[in-house]
Amino acid sequence: MVNVTILAIETSCDETAIAILRGSELMASEVASQSEHEAYGGVVPEVASRNHLVHAPRLLEQALQNAGVMLADVDAFAATSGPGLASSLMIGASMAKGLALGSAKPYLAINHLEGHLLSPFFLWPGSAIPATTHGEIEPNVSLIVSGGHTLLVEVRDVHDYRVLGRTVDDAAGEAFDKVAKLLGLGYPGGPEIENRAAEGNPARFDFPRSMLDSGDHNFSFSGLKTAVRYRLANVELANAKVVDDLCASFQAAVVEVLVTKTVRAAKECDARLVTLSGGVSCNQALRSEMTERCREIGLRLVFAPVKLCTDNAAMIAFAASLRFRAGQRSELSEEIDPNLALV
Ligand code: KG4
Ligand code: ZN
Repeated sequence: MVNVTILAIETSCDETAIAILRGSELMASEVASQSEHEAYGGVVPEVASRNHLVHAPRLLEQALQNAGVMLADVDAFAATSGPGLASSLMIGASMAKGLALGSAKPYLAINHLEGHLLSPFFLWPGSAIPATTHGEIEPNVSLIVSGGHTLLVEVRDVHDYRVLGRTVDDAAGEAFDKVAKLLGLGYPGGPEIENRAAEGNPARFDFPRSMLDSGDHNFSFSGLKTAVRYRLANVELANAKVVDDLCASFQAAVVEVLVTKTVRAAKECDARLVTLSGGVSCNQALRSEMTERCREIGLRLVFAPVKLCTDNAAMIAFAASLRFRAGQRSELSEEIDPNLALV
């Protein structure tokens, strides 16, 4: 049972990804990112799903070859079934169902958010906590920060989650992407802003820390984006130093809110461990501030490995392996759900 082989497909947004996990060993993890969306400054659903159709068969062959695995060796096929773009989710889910049906093996529908949430526990060179073989994890407060979601979750065990808070408007990654677009930087905006921020002064522009003291665990980033937009009216964007300082000041505002509210939630839940996942958790400023603030009050902190922060299928395979070991299977009739909730 420990060496069960899972083949997982992730197509919830603009990354086509296929991974093969055997036991706790990641045999292959293929990701094809779609640069076609850069011209639009955001993901175009129709373009994304057409690209999944082109990339997925090639990645399947590549994954099997890199893993040295035959389709007949796979014990279960998994796919992200939501949340995400409907037409994109359909490609990966249909493919996994077809493979499961064709090989008379089980199918597992996996929640993308659970993939992110569990990714800090995945065994990867450099990861602090080895993947559990028992399907148990240490209780923690988990911050999932991606392009589509900003979620604070109390994790009592695998599959035992309580959502503490979420964004009431834009996701943190969405704010990075929109502000990058305002500043004329590329897509995705997060890495672009992080690079420019490294040269900038985070104290130059005093941007709002929205909902920092709202008394709940929710977030809001749309006011911050608007504050950046208003600020553009009286600054010179052609001046590289101004752009660097805008990026640094914007990033500092996002990081302060994310870190303060996560640490506060962890205290309130009496958690001893904080976990961090999703595309925005690649951000080094967020990582170092979270590390510092957790250290100050004796909280342990585990990040998802950098390669598992942005969308990938390894995290879906890992989540699927825990569900498979727990005896769970999905019906082939299970539909994708673009608005699938974590719980
Ligand atoms: O998890 P992910 O790949 O996709 C979703 O599930 O949404 O996250 C993508 C998001 C994008 O908004 C991107 O700008 C952001 O993660 N991101 C970053 C960084 N790298 C990616 N945000 C801030 N700093 C980064 N270094
Ligand atoms: Zn994601």
